[in-house]
Amino acid sequence: MISRAIIDEIIFRNDIEQVIGSYVTLKRAGSNMNGLCPFHSEKTPSFTVFPATKSFYCFGCGAGGDVISFVMRHENLDYVDALEFLAARAGITIPVDGESEKQNGIPRKRVYEMNLAAARFFRDCLYDEKYGKAAMEYLVGKRKLDMATIKHFGIGCSPDNAWMLTNHMKRLGYNDEELSAGFLCGIGKNSGKPYDYFRNRVIFPIIDTTGNVVAFGGRVLDDSKPKYLNTSDTPAFKKSRHLFALNFARKHCEERMILCEGYMDVVALHAAGFENAVATLGTAITSEQARIFAKYTKQVIICYDSDDAGQTAANKAIRLLSEVGIDVRVLRLEGAKDPDEYIKKFGADAFGRVLDAGVTGFDFKLGNIIKKYNLAVSEDVIKASAEVSQLIAYTNSEVERELCIRKAVDILKVPFEAMKNDVERIRRGLLREMKKKQSEAAQMSVKNLDDRVNTDASRNVRGSRAEETLLGLMLIFDEFRHEAATGKIGLSSEDFVTAFGKRVFDSLCRLELDEQGFSKSLLGLDFNADELGRIERIELERRSLARNDREVFLASIAALKKEKATVNSENDPFADLRLKQELNKRAKENKNT
Ligand code: GTP
Ligand code: MN
Repeated sequence: MISRAIIDEIIFRNDIEQVIGSYVTLKRAGSNMNGLCPFHSEKTPSFTVFPATKSFYCFGCGAGGDVISFVMRHENLDYVDALEFLAARAGITIPVDGESEKQNGIPRKRVYEMNLAAARFFRDCLYDEKYGKAAMEYLVGKRKLDMATIKHFGIGCSPDNAWMLTNHMKRLGYNDEELSAGFLCGIGKNSGKPYDYFRNRVIFPIIDTTGNVVAFGGRVLDDSKPKYLNTSDTPAFKKSRHLFALNFARKHCEERMILCEGYMDVVALHAAGFENAVATLGTAITSEQARIFAKYTKQVIICYDSDDAGQTAANKAIRLLSEVGIDVRVLRLEGAKDPDEYIKKFGADAFGRVLDAGVTGFDFKLGNIIKKYNLAVSEDVIKASAEVSQLIAYTNSEVERELCIRKAVDILKVPFEAMKNDVERIRRGLLREMKKKQSEAAQMSVKNLDDRVNTDASRNVRGSRAEETLLGLMLIFDEFRHEAATGKIGLSSEDFVTAFGKRVFDSLCRLELDEQGFSKSLLGLDFNADELGRIERIELERRSLARNDREVFLASIAALKKEKATVNSENDPFADLRLKQELNKRAKENKNT
């Protein structure tokens, strides 16, 4: 079988928008792309590409999946042939069997051990007169960190030398494949020899909540580029699922957490006593990370850089964090570009005061809209009011809408009733749209009646619906999939009522427990194109629902078990007989009394 690393590489280098775009004319629609479905004939586009999840789905015919499934269906190829097709398209040579197999078959535990040894090496270098002098000077002299903070975070440095770490690690028994799979070294294109990935950088180890060193971030000591190198995703590590310093922050986060952009911000905040600060690992916040926050805290204060990029990123963070029910606040720092600089300039006390003055997500967005306009010009007031009404219309609570309108009319100096009418009108439109979508979904479930993919679905509608909820959650969230696969919640494939649901469950569990880590793409080995489309729909329908938490997960399991119990008793050939006996017995008893 082709190695996981190669499959990941093939998916990575075959951008789904581009690949599908070469077959279908796509038009941008918000964050997605729309077009006429190539798999059935239609006049209005219901074929959608979702770049964020690297997937596609046709709401008309149910075709769906990832870039590999698209090629499977369009070119009529099986999974392996589709992989080869895409590899050729991207100029990737698939190694002959076995050649690269070992590389990523490295157990997670081995990677953690290797990272720990590397972290110790980096740390020792920092305290070494010869190798660590410049880095230490940078940290203490330039960034004003004290020794206790440097030790606390396990900060180290990589020497200005291309082989020191590699040689050290080889002496400890790690081989080239392991080192390069763990992103500690690269392999020279021409020489084929390994060289250190991090050179002449300050190194921040990234430690998960169980204490494993999962990755590293390395910063240059000057203004050279790239400023940071970070460990790339491996089967044992996904940046989108970790937060820097969560290993410390989790002990100080019941009330609130602070989300910043950079490692240095977090380090400075912890040093100043704000030990509830974390940062994403050099990427925008993901929904997985939002769920991590929800697990640990009630309130998150977003404290991004004051530049445009930081403020745009804040909008996304507000949305994702609000979606998981967190009370989101946003800080706007005046007179400093980021929290690190702010504390250096104005001190920890001043920062503490700013923290308490964080504005709500609504106030932040309102402020951004107002900023764009000149409220002395009436046309601008009209435009600003329209944008603000649109924003408020999405708020579900009526009381909250009223309060927001009050705030907005105060600033915009427009009549309260006028804006309220606008908001309610927009809201009615939104609700209509939602209803339409719901009835489309209802129609889709009617289609279950002649369901070719899941032929048992019509016989047990409630059971198959519970299955879809459960499988959808397992497809979206690692934690649920992991719990289900490891048997932690007492769910097994015996609990499933449809053969299709059972197969999807088994397949997800097997992939989850794979040594190389989970990869959804590999479902292509177990399912045909129609089935992959159904799996995509199950995930998509789940994603579009507001509530996707543990309660829903547990409820779906309970519902499924209940359905299964009913099915079992219905299928029990002796059930009738037993019932008759029971009735006879009671009848006799009644006679006797
Ligand atoms: P300083 O500039 O030293 O204060 O660092 P910072 O931590 O404040 O970084 P900055 O605000 O510039 O960037 C925020 C985060 O984005 C960093 O902590 C990194 O995780 C990431 N980042 C910044 N520059 C790069 C880069 O060149 N490459 C990568 N991969 N990530 C980067
Ligand atoms: Mn900074």
